[in-house]
Parts: sequence; C-alpha cells; structure tokens
Amino acid sequence: MQIQGKTVLLTGATGGIGEAIAHELSAAGAKLIVSGRRADVLARIAADTGATVAVADLADREQLEALVAAHSNVDILVANAALPASGELSDFSLDQIDRALDVNLRAPVIMSRLLADQMVSRGSGQIVLIASLAGKVATAGSSLYSATKFGLRGFGAGLRADLVGSGVGVSVVFPGFVRDAGMFHESEVELPGYVGTSSPQDVADAVRSAVENDRGEIDVAPLSVRAATKVSELAPGVMSAVVRRLGSAKFTAEMADSQADKR
Ligand SMILES: NC(=O)c1ccc[n+]([C@@H]2O[C@H](COP(=O)([O-])OP(=O)(O)OC[C@H]3O[C@@H](n4cnc5c(N)ncnc54)[C@H](OP(=O)(O)O)[C@@H]3O)[C@@H](O)[C@H]2O)c1
Repeated sequence: MQIQGKTVLLTGATGGIGEAIAHELSAAGAKLIVSGRRADVLARIAADTGATVAVADLADREQLEALVAAHSNVDILVANAALPASGELSDFSLDQIDRALDVNLRAPVIMSRLLADQMVSRGSGQIVLIASLAGKVATAGSSLYSATKFGLRGFGAGLRADLVGSGVGVSVVFPGFVRDAGMFHESEVELPGYVGTSSPQDVADAVRSAVENDRGEIDVAPLSVRAATKVSELAPGVMSAVVRRLGSAKFTAEMADSQADKR
C-alpha cells in the first residue's frame, strides 16, 4: 500500500517509538491521527506533523470504543501503545495485570475487530501490530509482557491468514531493545555488553516497510540478537540457561524496579 494520502490511526504516539513512527509516516504523506493519554505531548506532535489529536485511555473500554468510532474509516492502524509490564508475576496486583492485558493485547484486538470490516469492504487496508522480541522469547521477569506480545504474534498471524485475498494486510513488528528513546531507554538500565540495540527510527522504518510491502513479520534488531532469537525459538531451555549464566538476573531485577511506576 502506498502511504501517501492514506489515513493512519497511531496509538502510543506520545512514546519514544511512537513519535518516530509519527514523523516517518507523516514524511511519507500520511494523514495522521495520533493517540495517547498525554494531550500536551500529542499537541506538540500534531504541531510538527499536521496530525489530528485523539486523547484516549486504552485501558478504559468506553474510551477505546469511542476512539475507534470517531476514526472508523482509517486506511491503516498502527497499534503501538503498551506498558512495559516487567517483573515477576507475583509483584503485580490483579488490577495491574488487567491493565497490561487491556492496553497491550485487548486494545489492539478490539481495534482490529472494529476497523477490519470497513477495510475489507473497501478492499484495502493495513493493520500493524507493534510486538517485541519478548513476543518470541520469554525470559525471567517477562511473563506478563511476553504473554501480551506472544499473544499479538498469534493474533496477527491468524488474522492475516483470515484476511488473505481481502486486500487487507496484517503485519507484526518485533523490536529488540531500543536505545535513545522509549520504555527501555527511560529505564536507564545498562544492557550487558553482548546485547545490541536498535533506534526508534529503525522501528519506524520497519513500520513503513510493513505497510508498503505487506510484510507479515519484521524483526528489528542487530543480526546477533536476531540470530540468538532464532536459537531461543528452537531451544528455549538451552538459551534460557545460557542467559541466566551470563548474569541476566541482575538486569531483569533492575528493569522491573525502574519500570514499576508504569504498571
Ligand atoms: N523501547 C523498547 O526497547 C521496545 C522494545 C520492544 C518493543 N517495544 C514496543 O514498542 C512500542 C512502543 O514502546 P515505547 O518504547 O515507545 O514505549 P513508551 O515510550 O513507554 O510509550 C508507550 C506509549 O503507550 C501509551 N500508553 C500507555 N498506556 C496507555 C493507556 N492506558 N492508554 C493509551 N495509551 C497508553 C503511552 O501514551 P501516554 O503515556 O500518553 O498514555 C505511550 O505513547 C510498545 O508496544 C512496546 O512494547 C519497545
């Protein structure tokens, strides 16, 4: 799909990666609707990109449905909003678990359900789901986050298969650790030296490519991380033991601590 002139609903536009996606799609000629909870940040992005602002809390079912109802004719959905949801499951209250599931998984599913029909009736559309490599490999301290991101992977692949031949594509994007902006960068936790990172622009480039080339899945990470991910998918137990031996426990505990205020 050509992006020029198309209408895009982008969630999580106020985040580190979301802002890069907004600028990339705007540069490609999209008419943007940017969504998030922070109206002031959305207003700044709108001033830069000419976007329409749509404030909504995706954990609130009424606000979620109102957001989609107000923008039901979009050509492209980029479901990017998420909470880090890092830490051991026993550290989450039941409300915090609900919020992570609602924002990271339920909202993209509901938005896809409500938007896909009109895309199919027009014979054209693209749904892009921003997952994570934590949606392919689960590690200590990632159970809840991985549940949502593995869920997005399965949802996206199944929906893509359902929509074959309809003119509507579904893409799932899997970033590894992202530097310079976003939830990992803000945690200020130092990565072990052997783990490479990507930039927010790399993720934005992947979103653009997903739309323009209808790609089913795109991993966004340096080659070494993508290779380790493949090995983990083939032998999850072995890789998990290796990562533990390399001292991942300290890193995951620090991440959970520094991201606890986003639960
Ligand atoms: N950063 C990384 O290293 C990394 C790696 C892999 C995957 N990802 C994925 O990339 C995507 C973007 O992440 P990021 O790093 O840009 O995160 P971020 O900077 O923390 O931004 C998160 C975004 O989600 C929105 N959001 C959170 N709760 C919401 C709610 N209840 N209702 C509506 N919007 C809500 C936030 O908007 P408001 O605060 O305005 O509500 C914000 O725009 C996520 O799906 C994330 O899982 C990130």
